[in-house]
Amino acid sequence: MRERVRAAVIGASGYTGAETLRWLLGHPAVEVVGATARTHAGRPLAELWPQFYGSSLVLSAEPPEADVLFLCLPHGEAARLAPSLQAECIIDLSGDHRLPEPSHSEHYGFSRETEPWLYGLPELGPELLLGARRIANPGCFATALALALLPLAGKMSGRVAAVGVTGSTGSGATPTDTTHHPLRSENLRAYKVLRHQHVPEVERAIGDIKLDFVPFSGPFRRGILVTYTLPACPIRLWEAHFQHNPLVRVVPRPPELLHVLGSARADIGVIEGGDVTVVQCAIDNLCRGAATQAVANLNLRMGWPMHLGLDRVSAVP
Ligand SMILES: NC(=O)c1ccc[n+]([C@@H]2O[C@H](COP(=O)([O-])OP(=O)(O)OC[C@H]3O[C@@H](n4cnc5c(N)ncnc54)[C@H](OP(=O)(O)O)[C@@H]3O)[C@@H](O)[C@H]2O)c1
Repeated sequence: MRERVRAAVIGASGYTGAETLRWLLGHPAVEVVGATARTHAGRPLAELWPQFYGSSLVLSAEPPEADVLFLCLPHGEAARLAPSLQAECIIDLSGDHRLPEPSHSEHYGFSRETEPWLYGLPELGPELLLGARRIANPGCFATALALALLPLAGKMSGRVAAVGVTGSTGSGATPTDTTHHPLRSENLRAYKVLRHQHVPEVERAIGDIKLDFVPFSGPFRRGILVTYTLPACPIRLWEAHFQHNPLVRVVPRPPELLHVLGSARADIGVIEGGDVTVVQCAIDNLCRGAATQAVANLNLRMGWPMHLGLDRVSAVP
């Protein structure tokens, strides 16, 4: 087992890139050897993100030589860049390598000639990630939706309905109509109803289900909360499934965003109510939905504990 790797973040001026750097810089077995940006290339990291005060990293235009690269780029850009990269391991946080064709083209609007990469939801089989060279990190909504249903995989079939709400950082750093403060603050609206691009990821992960999903844009910055109403199922199924998982907690009450924000953990709440069971999952979209999931994938790829460097408690309150 290797003891250390040299890692770099591609797209560190964006939200997932900066969050990935935040965790890598505190990881005991990672040396951060570089970080790139496009329009912000040439700027010191700490000038663009004062949170990194004290760091001497300067954002470069070209990817540095590294053992592991984290691609934190817009959809389409990651697929365009990936073939030219030589790193031993690449972890793509975009949607470019998650789905097989023709599903990929249908949902992302461009075709990809290569096979999908290994789908990096650690809970689908940590052992599969050992030594992996190309890993597609799951989508943020897909992570919450799949984690909440995983204990029922193979035990249920047919249609399942879910709703979910996400914070504005889910849309990235470039301002748009859907992230502009006066339109987002104190507002709530559904979008991509029954058409969200993360749905096929969940259907593939769980198998034998058809997911009807209604996502909402929430008036807050970070966090995702998804909710299923299912036929009666006991909470012990979730407790047993996740009992040895350091990055998932099962609780018999509604989970809260405040309890997971800034942390790598997913909280799953299971509320039994006679004929039905409500299952909810709360995550930080930039952490468990992106950066810390990517770091957990690196950990498993290296044969390290899944939660190495990911033990931080969320902000209180
Ligand atoms: N935000 C989330 O919660 C979340 C969660 C899971 C997955 N993802 C996925 O992760 C990827 C990155 O998301 P993000 O929210 O971090 O995006 P973002 O904030 O918009 O950051 C995009 C990064 O890519 C760089 N870039 C390079 N080429 C670009 C181009 N042609 N157009 C625009 N930017 C370019 C940008 O550099 P400059 O700023 O220097 O121009 C920036 O560093 C996306 O594919 C997204 O779907 C996001």
